[in-house]
Amino acid sequence: MSSNIKNEENVFLEGERELLLDHDYDGIQELDNPLPEWWKMTFYGGIIFGIPYFLYFVVLGGPTLYEEYQKELTFIEAVRLEMAGNLDLFDPVDYEAKILIPENLARGATIYEENCLACHADRGQGDIGPNLTDAFWIHGDGSPEFIYKMVVNGFEENGMPPWKDFLSKEEMIQVTAFVQTLKNTNIEGKAPEGNKVD
Ligand code: HEC
Repeated sequence: MSSNIKNEENVFLEGERELLLDHDYDGIQELDNPLPEWWKMTFYGGIIFGIPYFLYFVVLGGPTLYEEYQKELTFIEAVRLEMAGNLDLFDPVDYEAKILIPENLARGATIYEENCLACHADRGQGDIGPNLTDAFWIHGDGSPEFIYKMVVNGFEENGMPPWKDFLSKEEMIQVTAFVQTLKNTNIEGKAPEGNKVD
């Protein structure tokens, strides 16, 4: 049976005859082809990479993935704490996330009632303090960042207290969000002061 697939009948490409192994498995023969270059490069590359890797992480006790993760986490936590402690810093991303939560706006309304209403009136139309419902702003542009900073630092010479002495950062963000809801409601009250902002 196997006699009809003997070597003599095999067709060889150029140079293949030298690569032929001298086994014969029931008439089936193998060529000893060299491994492809890319395969050898990957293999040697793996060894070259592996030696220092092994020395650093196993022999010299380099950090594990978990330790690296912990280190980064500690760093992020430190930055976060610093930002939270830094009252002047307005984080727009954090702000945008907070105003999506209805309780924050509700808290803002209460904080306004308890602390701001006396000077800015019940609907923000102004009294001692300027009208917060029009498009006119004395110092800034009425943006959340400006209002937040105004609340934090106030303008004591002109009668606006610095609220950082009385409110937490969280509360100042909440009241800022509430003041944003007053903007452009144009309630008749104190005459416009400052510059018009479109
Ligand atoms: C004691 C009175 C008083 C209280 C209380 C007060 N404000 Fe004011 N506020 C003022 C005065 C006066 C100004 C104008 C300051 C100026 O002209 O420089 C002002 C200005 C502002 C401005 C800037 C307006 C503009 O046109 O630039 C904002 C925003 C503001 N207040 C928000 C608040 C918020 C929020 C609260 C409560 C947390 C509050 N204020 C509490 C008196 C007050």
